[in-house]
Amino acid sequence: MDKVQAQYERWIYPEPVEDLEAWIAGGAISAGDARECGDIFWPATGYREGMNILVAGCGANQAARYALKHPTAKVTGIDLSEASLAHEEKLKTKHGLDNLTLHRMRLEEISKLGQAFDFIASSGVLHHLPDPVAGLKALAGVLDRDGVIYIMLYGRYGRTPVYMMQDLFRRLHMGQTEDDVALVKETIRLLPPEHPLRPYETRSTDMKFDSGLVDLFLHQQDRPYSVPEIMEFTRDGGLTFQAWVQPAFYNPDVAIPENHPLYQRMEQLPDEERWAAMELFGGILSRHDFCVCRPDRPRDSYNIDFTDPGFAGRAVPLSQGGTLASAAAGRPAILSSPRRPPMTLPPPLATIFQQIDGARTIAQCLESAPLNAPPEIIQQHGMRFFRTLSRTGHVAFRLKETS
Ligand SMILES: C[S@@+](CC[C@H](N)C(=O)[O-])C[C@H]1O[C@@H](n2cnc3c(N)ncnc32)[C@H](O)[C@@H]1O
Repeated sequence: MDKVQAQYERWIYPEPVEDLEAWIAGGAISAGDARECGDIFWPATGYREGMNILVAGCGANQAARYALKHPTAKVTGIDLSEASLAHEEKLKTKHGLDNLTLHRMRLEEISKLGQAFDFIASSGVLHHLPDPVAGLKALAGVLDRDGVIYIMLYGRYGRTPVYMMQDLFRRLHMGQTEDDVALVKETIRLLPPEHPLRPYETRSTDMKFDSGLVDLFLHQQDRPYSVPEIMEFTRDGGLTFQAWVQPAFYNPDVAIPENHPLYQRMEQLPDEERWAAMELFGGILSRHDFCVCRPDRPRDSYNIDFTDPGFAGRAVPLSQGGTLASAAAGRPAILSSPRRPPMTLPPPLATIFQQIDGARTIAQCLESAPLNAPPEIIQQHGMRFFRTLSRTGHVAFRLKETS
């Protein structure tokens, strides 16, 4: 049996959830969800009902979760691991998920299903393939022209302590037995307080259960990616990079004061260079969540381009769940939202933010803001503000068709 399959038969990942509804109600985070991220993935239309969705490398829960949360979608879950699929099957029965089909197969062979998909989710999978680019090409081959692939890959720098531990355990000839998992736990307990794994431990959920420990420290096939490696991977797969799911990590807008020379330097860089620089500046990204699409997808339908002079007139800002804490008159307000960095908004920017109603374009928001300033000043600062909101993930956009 393939070594990756053998691991996931014995140590199914993630921890099996027994009741998806209770789990979702408990606030479980599902990064890259088609509906929740619909505004990011499909700026022209948003999430559409009735999509054909593939969950490639679904593990124990993910395909069933998709089927439950996207009831009008037709969901296909595939995985190498019979044990993981058995749990997905159990969830299918428990929650009556008639829209879910499961197959045991390698994602590299997905064309055998003879289907095209509007959305493909592959999270935590491609970096375990013997040839990740071949896997990506296989997924690209079954993607609809307007479809989107959401991918999560391991981050190179944030996982440095994980690879140190993998190296240590390899040198100790440790395998994936119960005894060795117990020894992993003991080793971690004995690590010196200054060890680089210590801060990682506080951020990791995988260190809380045994199959997570195997996945982190005893895996026999995984590789991490830096931002430039993701760009190369996407191009090698014949696809186009579309967007980060959490753009705040890749832009200096909140992390570095705007009037600092470092910010100015970052701003001079082209997008991919700036994202790479910010990954190095932040230092702790242990995963990258992003989406890619086909190169023949009409660019007007998804490209967020503040340098395009027509952009303000056709982009409708959509707030991504942020709330503006009402501040005393004349004082800054705080914009906060789950999983996004809080922003302090001086009163004029708070006024502009309040114009966002899901119907007005950027240009209309700026026109309707009751501000006592010349229109060109409002325009200049307002455009900059919307770019920051976009770069921090506080707004996505609905793009109207170009006339
Ligand atoms: C780390 S788990 C992630 C599970 C799920 N995507 C999630 O995020 O909860 C990786 C899964 O990918 C599956 N897998 C690994 N290589 C695969 C391949 N070539 N084809 C299909 N599934 C694969 C494994 O069996 C395992 O269930």
